[in-house]
Amino acid sequence: MGKLAWGLIGGGEGSQIGPAHRLGAGLDGLFTFSAGALDHRPDAGRAYGQRLGLAAHRAYGDWQEMLAGEQARDDRVDLVTVATPNATHFEITKAFLEHGFHVLCEKPMTMTVEEGEEIVRIARASGRICAVNYGYTGYSLVRHMRAMVARGDLGAVRLVKAEFAHGHHADAADADNPRVRWRYDPAQAGISAQFADCGIHALHMASFVIGQEAERLSADTVSCIGSRVLEDDAMVNLRFDRGAVGRLWTSSVAIGRQHGLTLQVFGEKGGLRWSQEQPNQLYWMPLGGRLQVIERGETGLSPEADRTTRVTIGHAEGMPLAFANIYKDLAEAIRAQKENREIDPAANLFPRAEDGLRSMAAVVAVAESGKSEGAWKDARPPMFRDPAGDS
Ligand code: NAI
Repeated sequence: MGKLAWGLIGGGEGSQIGPAHRLGAGLDGLFTFSAGALDHRPDAGRAYGQRLGLAAHRAYGDWQEMLAGEQARDDRVDLVTVATPNATHFEITKAFLEHGFHVLCEKPMTMTVEEGEEIVRIARASGRICAVNYGYTGYSLVRHMRAMVARGDLGAVRLVKAEFAHGHHADAADADNPRVRWRYDPAQAGISAQFADCGIHALHMASFVIGQEAERLSADTVSCIGSRVLEDDAMVNLRFDRGAVGRLWTSSVAIGRQHGLTLQVFGEKGGLRWSQEQPNQLYWMPLGGRLQVIERGETGLSPEADRTTRVTIGHAEGMPLAFANIYKDLAEAIRAQKENREIDPAANLFPRAEDGLRSMAAVVAVAESGKSEGAWKDARPPMFRDPAGDS
């Protein structure tokens, strides 16, 4: 089978995340960049699309035009990535799924739990893939952590500690800059700022690695910059569904921290530590042993780690290659569906609409708990509280 066709919505010139998607989708030669509606300004989107090599008639002015245009083609795109601002994710993702396209949606998948449940239902009913870009779970050593937990190297997981704390909105003098202010304005950002933007990455990664879902949580949310309505810092305590305890800190006022995503897992038989800013090393401390540094690309790692590494040991792999692993998984999932066969289990690890929905339920629980002095809240989406719904 030849290359799959890929389309991008959003991710226009100067956007933060567009280049990482283009690099990720193109890296392994699995997808051809075939169509796009890249910018909220139609002419700018068309022009940029053509400069990136799209045919003029597939460099669309907006996503509705792209939906109509692609639907009419025999060689329509196989996968559409939605990399627009948050409030638009729901309607674009829904429309493309309903018209039979596979979708990779940026996080947060939706603005509400109800919308998240609707996307899950549509994806399940349509049989289309709806993935959510928790792209950091594509890192080879994150996949390896998950494999180590799953094969029992740590024994039962007692504690998981996740952080996503940066300092990029710490300047009180800049708090009214419109590019910063909207993030803390409920009219534009919804019910949560920092947790919905970054905390959900940390929570998703914790769940992914330990193979457990958040059941209950208690949150302390604060706006360290007083003019902000929504939180710029949150500390969240969690209980997972198979017994692990979680501690999660997210902040945008942690001056000196850059990206700030880190994960530590402590089990009965050992502890792991990994950080997004040094993603090629994983620290492993077996109980009663010595601290070991596991290097990405070493021989003898898990099949999940081997599948998601490309460059030889000692050369750094970074974030666009982690995104490329999500695309690699998706290419395998789409091909398996087209060929009516089972997906390679090592590729069946990409985050799905169900994960996007779980994140939204956690966002609501954090916001509600934060408003009620840390009262414990159910962190699960309503449709997953009944075990029959979680299938
Ligand atoms: P940005 O503001 O830098 O870029 C947004 C792009 O979307 C711009 O090119 C804009 O013209 C375009 N756009 C806006 N509305 C559009 C529409 N209706 N149709 C087509 N294009 C439209 O935003 P950024 O930072 O790139 O974020 C985009 C999304 O990616 C957000 O949902 C954000 O949460 C997510 N994101 C995810 C990350 C991850 O690690 N998974 C990291 C950074 C952002």
